Amino acid sequence: MNIKKAVEQHIEMENFFTGGLCIRSQKNASGKMAQPDESTIRKQKELEQIAEEVKKCRKCEIGSTRKNAVAGEGNPNARIMFIGEAPGADEDAQGRPFVGRAGQLLDRIIAAMRLSREDVFIGNILKSRPPENRTPKAEEIINCLPYLQKQIEIIKPEIIVALGAYAAQTLLETTKPIGQLRGHFFDYYTGLGKPPIKLLATFHPAYLLRNYTVESRQKVWEDMKTVLAALDLPVPK
Ligand code: URA
Repeated sequence: MNIKKAVEQHIEMENFFTGGLCIRSQKNASGKMAQPDESTIRKQKELEQIAEEVKKCRKCEIGSTRKNAVAGEGNPNARIMFIGEAPGADEDAQGRPFVGRAGQLLDRIIAAMRLSREDVFIGNILKSRPPENRTPKAEEIINCLPYLQKQIEIIKPEIIVALGAYAAQTLLETTKPIGQLRGHFFDYYTGLGKPPIKLLATFHPAYLLRNYTVESRQKVWEDMKTVLAALDLPVPK
């Protein structure tokens, strides 16, 4: 690769990680807030119902140790769902996904894609915080995964972005390391006879914060460009 191209790529990647927040307006041509259609209202209600079930759920111990359940949030018609591992302390305190330091980095990634949190859906494999952020237990995944599966079935995203090894390995039912999984599309099946949803794994924002190297950021940027291109959305320069 020549130096000019390398410099251009570096600038592009830096812009990606520092890109300004770009909230897409929900207003229609006459400047009024667009009214959700019937299907959107129905999906929103179904998602709220799941959030209510999650709130009441005490199948695991962590259902009692948590401060708040974190069902997930976002657009019922999202084309992209970002799925992480489990709520941390900040998420547990607020009852919202990805609101701590890793969440702020995820916001910047989403903004750099020229999207906003209102465009996408953000959730986790587990809806309750494991104490001390320990790794989720098998029984916790078995109990919690059906909530996420229902959310996916309601939203019907075109792409699921699995954030980090844990989400990717759980959804793809594999033990392959994230280094091997990231950057490619896999098929995620929601049920027999239903068309698969594309799933792309990338590094977890918390991993990026710990390994804030040009190389790891470049990889995430490439992954997000792959997602945008697959959705026929403009790939920012
Ligand atoms: N890490 C996750 O995996 N999920 C969150 O919601 C926050 C941090």
